[in-house]
Amino acid sequence: MNILLLGSGGREDALAWRLRQSPSCDSLLAAPGNPGIARWAECVAIDPTSPEAVVALAQERGVDLVVVGPEAPLVAGVADACRAARIAVFGPNAAPAQLEGSKGFTKDLCAEHGIPTADYVRVETASDALAALHRFTIPVVIKADGLAAGKGVTVALTRDEAERAIQAAGDGPMVIEEFLEGEEASLFALVDGEVAVPLASAQDHKRVGEGDTGPNTGGMGAYSPAPVLTPELERRAMEEIVLPTARAMASRGTPFSGVLYAGLMLTAEGPKLIEYNVRFGDPECEAIMPRIEGDFAELLMAVASGRLGATEPPVLSDETTMTVIIAAEGYPGTPKKGGLIDEIEPAEQVEGVTVFHAGTARHASGALLSVGGRVLAVTAKAPNLARARARAYRAVDAIRFADGFHRRDIGWRELERSAGELAK
Ligand code: AMP
Ligand code: GLY
Repeated sequence: MNILLLGSGGREDALAWRLRQSPSCDSLLAAPGNPGIARWAECVAIDPTSPEAVVALAQERGVDLVVVGPEAPLVAGVADACRAARIAVFGPNAAPAQLEGSKGFTKDLCAEHGIPTADYVRVETASDALAALHRFTIPVVIKADGLAAGKGVTVALTRDEAERAIQAAGDGPMVIEEFLEGEEASLFALVDGEVAVPLASAQDHKRVGEGDTGPNTGGMGAYSPAPVLTPELERRAMEEIVLPTARAMASRGTPFSGVLYAGLMLTAEGPKLIEYNVRFGDPECEAIMPRIEGDFAELLMAVASGRLGATEPPVLSDETTMTVIIAAEGYPGTPKKGGLIDEIEPAEQVEGVTVFHAGTARHASGALLSVGGRVLAVTAKAPNLARARARAYRAVDAIRFADGFHRRDIGWRELERSAGELAK
């Protein structure tokens, strides 16, 4: 197969690395790619969110499968355009991508199909939101709706804070919802119409600071699997949340095809849906890819061509992976750009370690420079989380990047839990 991968971050470097190792992958193109991806793929400088440019490149280069990394091309209709041109594509059309694009859409779908999620109301204006607030106990969660409102989630600990969050959100549509108590975990499932199979679980660390403090980021680290999502809870999440969603999307005439990322809250009553994403998580993808065994390209092709139900389920390694993000100073605000990065090779000499590139660029001199907020995703695989952690940080410490910072406590919750169990 000739494969075209869309995107340019750490998630796509991990996808490219894994696709390149697949026996069925003959050649790999990436658009636009990055210096890490260039190790495994030929990078082509086209706009991955332009349906015309993607289809033209795929046709010109005889591409058999397009794999979409980020959500922007999906929302822009790139997968629709590929399907219309009869090019196999891994990733949903724009209509089912609403599962990520509109919180209100997903909440209504859950309500209609009895899918467990927080109780909620949808409102169109701030004054309706203020009027609806009394129906909820505190804490309460205020979410601005729509893709433009990416960071618009407030967990309000007082009524005052809730009112301020509503006023700050302005007059657009909002969702107000019940606060769910529990631990969060992510489940990644492959979905092909009404067929859905679990791929892997993971947990990430969204806050920039150690101890999970400070502003939210795209994710400062992750590990896979997430043992809190036990086999029984995973089975319930598939049966009560993912499968009913797949069936509902199919029955609406907008079947989902690709990877569905369910952000779950593991409550006392069982798993409840916090949100969906319609693509792999970043950095969860960097943690998951090294655990996938078998022909990954063929697995994605099976999803893309409607054969998932007739395909052997994915096989995951029993080993554990940990990814530590090295970010540029300033992130998640404005990151400092142009910092010199060196000594990645010694880091990759550490057993089980791969260093994925997220925000790097190659200077004409050959030097590697930082160009984004999240710069590197250092991933280690080992028989257990404590050893994966030791390897990951040994590699992180080998890398020279003066403008970078990272969290030293990735995995702390799970490491404390497993230490507690050992002590029992
Ligand atoms: P979202 O963008 O919907 O994933 O929300 C971002 C974060 O806010 C989640 O990862 C949770 O930590 C938190 N959150 C969202 N909704 C709830 C809820 N109903 N109860 C508790 N925490 C929530
Ligand atoms: N790590 C969270 C995300 O990819 O949305």
